[in-house]
Amino acid sequence: MRVVLFTGKGGVGKSTVAAGTAALCAGAGHRTLVLSTDAAHSLADAFGAPVGPEPTEVAPGLFVQQVDAQLRFQQSWAEIQRYLLAVLDVAGVDPVAAEELTVIPGAEEVLALLELRQHARSERWDVVIVDCAPTAETLRLLALPEALGWYMQRVFPVERRIVKALKPVLSRAAGVPMPEDDVFAAVERLHRELDEVRALLSGPGSSIRLVLTPENVVLAEARRSYTTLSLFGYRVDGVVANRVFPAEGADDWRAGWVLAQDEVLAQVAQSFAGLPVWTSLYRPAEPVGVDALRRLAEDVYDGSDPVALPTGPGPFRITRSGSGTVLRLALPLVSRADVDLARNGDELVVTVGSYRRLLTLPAGLARHRVAAARVEDGELRVRFEESAS
Ligand SMILES: Nc1ncnc2c1ncn2[C@@H]1O[C@H](COP(=O)(O)OP(=O)(O)O)[C@@H](O)[C@H]1O
Ligand SMILES: [Mg+2]
Repeated sequence: MRVVLFTGKGGVGKSTVAAGTAALCAGAGHRTLVLSTDAAHSLADAFGAPVGPEPTEVAPGLFVQQVDAQLRFQQSWAEIQRYLLAVLDVAGVDPVAAEELTVIPGAEEVLALLELRQHARSERWDVVIVDCAPTAETLRLLALPEALGWYMQRVFPVERRIVKALKPVLSRAAGVPMPEDDVFAAVERLHRELDEVRALLSGPGSSIRLVLTPENVVLAEARRSYTTLSLFGYRVDGVVANRVFPAEGADDWRAGWVLAQDEVLAQVAQSFAGLPVWTSLYRPAEPVGVDALRRLAEDVYDGSDPVALPTGPGPFRITRSGSGTVLRLALPLVSRADVDLARNGDELVVTVGSYRRLLTLPAGLARHRVAAARVEDGELRVRFEESAS
């Protein structure tokens, strides 16, 4: 199953380009599903057809689904939230405020992505296109299982046993509700499921495309997303520059825009060097309906395969040579000074701005020490050496 995600700032045309790509794929004979995890669903509007929370066929071989994030949220999160609310209640937190405290921003969207597990298992689709929420923020939450890996493997089972043993005593003594076993089971299940989705989305069959309009503010955000997505191990395999004004027959007003957009487009090419930058013209009308969407996508991809498997090295790899072992992590658009590295047992902590990833080192490297680190050709390269001891 090939999975392509579309992300970008609000209003740039994510849903339109995602829907168009899906229409093009279905037209080429792929069994195609396009689903949106963005709470601001607009796939139904783009297709000009009613769409529900289950896959709905809008054209032969083309299915559309607007995942009910709220519902998924309630299902996956309910037990954990109930417990947190009970604890906060004892702590004297007003239940209405507590309700908000227990909602992690972006959690709904990430839980909507859990839907992808079922789709991968069903073997019903050749291509799944995902229309994501505005920023790449939420995909970062999928790194949670990785960050909690050590805790979940070593501490969590112990805590669970201790809580079980002490529960009768503690609940009575302190008046604090202790988590029931189903809370632990829910945490464990959620952890496993998120990890599965992360593995799927950072695997060789998945990639992310950034949609932007040629405007400085929009480009700045797309550049940040490129860095962040790479940091967390997702592969960006293309950029779509949407709403590009055609130069032909422009009056003064439009000619001004064409000039301004050209300038930004040159920066886009520079920022994403090595990636295809597809352009999509500003259409005289909103592209609505399967045919209009497919035509837009035909122009965008201009004969290239919209779901070609990404080539080149993945976002994360380890190479060995005479001088030692080098861990390579794609980290475009940053310099060494923007990156902070720390070693924490068998983990490498990589921080870029306000984003932090805990990379669990493969067993072979855990006993090595970091000899040097640099950022080159859009890659963080960390060289490891055998410890002297
Ligand atoms: N290339 C284009 N030409 C004309 N209108 C477009 C184009 N791309 C998108 N639109 C319109 O712009 C609006 C926002 O697009 P949409 O895909 O919903 O953005 P997003 O999903 O990023 O919020 C919609 O009304 C859509 O029909
Ligand atoms: Mg949208």
